[in-house]
Amino acid sequence: MSQPVASQALAPPPPRHVAIIMDGNGRWAKARGLPRNLGHRQGVDAVREVVRNCRKLGIEYLTLYAFSSENWKRPETEVAGLMELLRLYIRRELEELRRNGVRIRIIGDRAKLAPDIVALIDDAETKTRDNRALTLIIALSYGGQDEIVAACRRIAEQVAVGKLAPEQITADVLAAHLQTVGIPDPDLVIRTSGEQRLSNFLLWQTAYSELIFIDKLWPDFAAEDLAAAVGEFQRRERRYGGSGE
Ligand code: IPE
Ligand code: IPE
Ligand code: MG
Repeated sequence: MSQPVASQALAPPPPRHVAIIMDGNGRWAKARGLPRNLGHRQGVDAVREVVRNCRKLGIEYLTLYAFSSENWKRPETEVAGLMELLRLYIRRELEELRRNGVRIRIIGDRAKLAPDIVALIDDAETKTRDNRALTLIIALSYGGQDEIVAACRRIAEQVAVGKLAPEQITADVLAAHLQTVGIPDPDLVIRTSGEQRLSNFLLWQTAYSELIFIDKLWPDFAAEDLAAAVGEFQRRERRYGGSGE
C-alpha cells in the first residue's frame, strides 16, 4: 500500500502458483559426513521458512515435491525416515498452518502410503479446507505419468459406458481428471541442487511454466532465494507461443 499507484501498475505480477522440486538433502548431509536422513530433517526447516514467506510475495499456491513415485526405490530406512518426517511435520505444523489460513492438499498415490499417514493427511485437508490465504499442495508418492494415466483411465471408462464421445475429450477434460483439478497451473517451477530436470513432476501442468534452477541444496534454500526467484520470474517474458508483440 505504501507504493505509488503508478509503479504498482507497472510491476509485473508475481507468480500465483510456485512449485518447488526440493532436491539436494542427501548431498547436503554427505558434505557434512552425516546420514542422508539428517539432510531430510534439515530440509523440513527450509519448508517451514518457504511456507511462511509465500504470502508476503503474493504467492497464492505453493506445491512442494516431497516424495516421488520413484523415491519408493530408495533403501527402506531412508523411506521410513522420510515418512516419519512427514508425520512429524503434519502433527507439529497443522495447528499453525490452520491458524494462518493455509489450505492443505495432498496429491499422489495414497494407496502406497501407510494407513496412519492417509488418516493424517485426510484430517489436515478436512481441517483446512475453508482456508484461503495460501494453498499448500504436497506432492507425496506423486508421479506425473501415473497421474495422467489415471486420468486417461477414468475418461476411457466414461467413453466405454457411452457417457462421453471420443471427440469430446479435450485438454480441459483431461485437466479436469487430474488430481490438481481446480488449481491453476504453476507459473514458476524452482528446482534446487543444480539438477536440471523435472523428474516426473507435474508433467501436464508445467507446459508453460517458467523454470528456474538454483545450485543451492534444498536445506540451504532461504527466504531470499525464493524472493530472488520471484524477481527473476517477473523479469521474464511469457509468450505462450505468441510473437510477444
Ligand atoms: C530431495 O533430496 C528429497 C527427496 C527426494 C525426498 P535428495 O534425497 O534427492 O538429495 P540428493 O539429490 O540425493 O542430494
Ligand atoms: C525429485 O528428486 C523428487 C523430489 C524432490 C521429491 P530426486 O532426487 O528423486 O530426482 P532424480 O532421481 O535426481 O531425478
Ligand atoms: Mg535428489
